[in-house]
Amino acid sequence: MSRKGFVRAVGKNYTREDLLKMEPVALGGLFRERVHHGIEVKFNQIVSRKMPVPENFGYEARMILEVWKERGFSEKTPDIEWGKKYIDFADRLIRGEEIKPEDLPPRPEPFSQKEMETVEKLIRERRSIREWEEKPVPEELIEKIMEAGRAAPLGCNLGVVRFIVLTSEEEISAITSDIPTPAGRCVVIVIGYDDRIYPAVGHDKIVPHNQVLDCAAAGDHMLLMAHALGLGGVWLTQTEKTSLRFKEKIGAPEFFQPVMHIAVGWPANGTIKTERTPLEDMVIKVK
Ligand SMILES: Cc1cc2nc3c(=O)[nH]c(=O)nc-3n(C[C@H](O)[C@H](O)[C@H](O)COP(=O)(O)O)c2cc1C
Repeated sequence: MSRKGFVRAVGKNYTREDLLKMEPVALGGLFRERVHHGIEVKFNQIVSRKMPVPENFGYEARMILEVWKERGFSEKTPDIEWGKKYIDFADRLIRGEEIKPEDLPPRPEPFSQKEMETVEKLIRERRSIREWEEKPVPEELIEKIMEAGRAAPLGCNLGVVRFIVLTSEEEISAITSDIPTPAGRCVVIVIGYDDRIYPAVGHDKIVPHNQVLDCAAAGDHMLLMAHALGLGGVWLTQTEKTSLRFKEKIGAPEFFQPVMHIAVGWPANGTIKTERTPLEDMVIKVK
């Protein structure tokens, strides 16, 4: 249950005064997390299983939003607008109103056979491409790829993933991996996280690895989108040393922690799809 006058985080309670001083990027993360755990997760149980509405339901998210507005930050960003929708639902439940199925977006339905064919094609055909034609990759395709990364699942809805796009020879040479990534043939997108958000919410103490997993989820979505666009991409590993050298060479902000990078371009040739170990070797039976 929320305690009036406080916003809970792992190992700490924030007062209004604390929130007024908090770094905006951390305050935004705290808002998304409090809407997620404080309202969204419980909301689904209340609506579908008729669980009772908790006392002070959505109080913390409301308190952060008030501070957000008072500090003059934009309410027009998609994450804040999303949070406001949940606060509105929480208000309605507190007033004793019923949330009807038609108040919510329709539940997911199985894809049609045609849609399934596309999904299967995408998942089964995607492969790593490591050689590219000398041909520019249009900016709008890079944006589409990053939008796909933006849509990936993210731990506790905290939103820590960040991208740095490298196109020129000078920029690309700031990062190295085991394969050549020549400028003019590919664009490199470095995927990392903003390290100012987890400490504010206390998640650095309990699930720090989720920041890296968020980057991985984004990278996978991005490579799938690249494939659908006819581009070829590959996931590239960074050693800790590579990441540090990259940050220094490129002048990335201190808060950006690079995790991996992907290179995308127009495939130079077809490649044999790597085959996996059989499913029965992957599934571990415990009974
Ligand atoms: C965590 C991770 C790290 C990877 N690092 C590299 C790398 O540094 N260099 C590279 O050429 N490919 C790298 N890859 C791509 C894999 O080699 C590739 O996904 C795997 O061989 C299967 O081939 P496929 O992607 O064509 O299905 C990496 C993939 C993952 C998931």
